[in-house]
Amino acid sequence: QRSIWLSRHGESEWNVYGKIGGDADLSPRGEAYALKLPELVKQSFGPGEDHPLTVWTSTLKRTIATARHLPQEWNQLQWKALDELDSGVCDNMTYAEIKELYPEDFEARDQDKYNYRYRGGESYRDVVIRLEPIIMELERSENILIVTHQAILRCIYAYFMKEDQEKSPWLNVPLHTLIKLTPRAYGTDKEVFKAGV
Ligand code: G3H
Repeated sequence: QRSIWLSRHGESEWNVYGKIGGDADLSPRGEAYALKLPELVKQSFGPGEDHPLTVWTSTLKRTIATARHLPQEWNQLQWKALDELDSGVCDNMTYAEIKELYPEDFEARDQDKYNYRYRGGESYRDVVIRLEPIIMELERSENILIVTHQAILRCIYAYFMKEDQEKSPWLNVPLHTLIKLTPRAYGTDKEVFKAGV
């Protein structure tokens, strides 16, 4: 039975300050998650299941750092297409700063989060399109663990759970949690493993 493993990166320094985007390092808590991830993956294996995973990260430091304690012999691949939703001029800002500097944009995003495109950046709809090659590759691969970002995981998760993509911007994909999805004939089984860090 083929499964797909999904995880957000460990908490980053920007997560701590409430800043979006950027290319920050992991926080101490995020580092603790990275250390715990190999054990969490082992825990997610079913009885008799023991095989290497191929690890896909984005090109951003926080996902690569999160994957770095996984077994050396597992192949790792970095995809630009897995980078976080590009928040353009709002990159590295807190939501409070965005609201202050770009009140109309803040309101427009609230009204239509799926279609709202950041100035000089992307919308969720854009992300769904750039993820098409990733989804195609996933469909014909086995044993992939994806370590990426919240907005990206929302879209990948919606695809495999057969949720309406327009709902993806509001899906809850918590930090420090490994999700194992196993597509079956009549829907996708979901198992959740919390690191507790
Ligand atoms: O850093 C950006 C978040 O992953 C996306 O969150 O689309 O709910 O603002 P948001």
